[in-house]
Amino acid sequence: ALKIVTIGGGSSYTPELIEGYIKRKDELPIKEIWLVDIEEGKEKLAIVGEMAKRMVKAAGLPWTVHLTLNRREALKDADYVSTQFRVGLLNARIKDERIPLSHGVLGQETNGAGGMFKAFRTIPVILDIIKDMEELCPDAWLVNFTNPAGMVTEAAIKHGGWKKTAGLCNVPIGHRKQAAEKLNLPEDELFFKFAGINHFHWHRVWDKTGKERTAELIDLIYGPQSETESHLKNIHNVPFHYEQIKDLGMLPCGYHRYYYIEDEMLEHSIEEFKKGETRAQVVKATEARLFELYKDPNLDYKPKELEERGGTHYSDAACELIASIQNDKRTDMVVSTANNGTITDLPYDCIVEVSGPVTSHGPEPYNWGAFPPAARGIIQMMKGMEETVIRAAIDGDYGTALHAFTVNPLVPGGVMAKTLLDELLVAHKEHLPQF
Ligand code: NAD
Ligand code: G6P
Ligand code: MN
Ligand code: MN
Repeated sequence: ALKIVTIGGGSSYTPELIEGYIKRKDELPIKEIWLVDIEEGKEKLAIVGEMAKRMVKAAGLPWTVHLTLNRREALKDADYVSTQFRVGLLNARIKDERIPLSHGVLGQETNGAGGMFKAFRTIPVILDIIKDMEELCPDAWLVNFTNPAGMVTEAAIKHGGWKKTAGLCNVPIGHRKQAAEKLNLPEDELFFKFAGINHFHWHRVWDKTGKERTAELIDLIYGPQSETESHLKNIHNVPFHYEQIKDLGMLPCGYHRYYYIEDEMLEHSIEEFKKGETRAQVVKATEARLFELYKDPNLDYKPKELEERGGTHYSDAACELIASIQNDKRTDMVVSTANNGTITDLPYDCIVEVSGPVTSHGPEPYNWGAFPPAARGIIQMMKGMEETVIRAAIDGDYGTALHAFTVNPLVPGGVMAKTLLDELLVAHKEHLPQF
């Protein structure tokens, strides 16, 4: 019988996770679900935790749901540990977004200056969690959902030494659904290969006759006749430049907008900033509405309103990954995992986001090979930036942090890098003991 733990259990996403377990009840012999949070998230945990209990009860399942602020009690003998915490909660995200924007620079919770600070706050905590896991549940799988998911997963595997870690994101799921819809084919008749790093990956698509459909999809989704769409609630729907994507020969992920059309994304973000409507501010209001709904003692299913969050359908990643490991299902999934030569342009031991079956011993990614030159340079730079961010997060070295900021393509200029770094270090001081 399984003991599953979620760290950051007070997140408004928790009903998504519970729904995913309920859907897979025949594949997951769950006994206990433990939701862990901290003092700051106590009230959220109580509200969404009661909601989780009602969902399990309504499904007629004998699982027990435990709410606790004691992480060690929860981790004892755990089989799977999923993480979905945000150090500093949404108020910290508001700073991640608004401080760079106040200097006319993109602020984003996973990319750019904001994402680097989210990594600085999060990596020490994930390494601490791993120390507890070594002692309390040495065989457990760590399913990391906490952003920036690629960097946090790399810190866990390479620096924490927790090999049984898989990083997840819902973006590839959206792209799979989008391709199936555009080609008017069932998703399971298509074969997908994704490669890159978290929020910076590309993909190719084949049908079951063996024919590659990537170029056709580029036309259907980004061509002159198509109506542009960002299937992510959190990413502004700005069209890519069709000719450039066509030249690339791979489908970009939604987050590539921040790089390929950075200037236009920045313009939109600045407008939102001026109106006091950056994504974190919008999400704060959505979260408040969600928790009002969760308080209703009659609500025992995931409400539609949760789709207003960018991470919708994430349980299709998290719960399916657990079911696939548990049952050696070999579901074809996109996971942040050790490269091991899958992408020849990137270091062997770094973490990449790639496709492949998930077995009982973890993901076994398909070989990808090399990227075309136009993608090779930028992904190597992005990976170098990530490695530098991780090193700064661990060592707390100012020079390393400044280097990460200087290398990040969303931070323009070394002087601006220093200005932003200095201001963010002060703003987030209480969550950065290492600096
Ligand atoms: P949130 O602000 O609601 O935070 C979730 C919970 O984490 C809060 O209840 C908070 O109190 C708790 N928390 C903070 N520090 C903690 C700690 N040290 N230990 C335990 N709990 C702690 O966040 P959210 O908006 O619900 O998002 C949750 C996380 O999931 C974020 O990191 C977000 O970036 C990530 N996310 C990832 C994806 C993905 O694609 N991988 C999708 C959506 C969200
Ligand atoms: C997408 C990304 C997540 C990100 C989320 C933000 O789903 O994959 O990594 O956390 O959007 O959504 P939000 O509603 O918090 O802006
Ligand atoms: Mn993501
Ligand atoms: Mn720069």
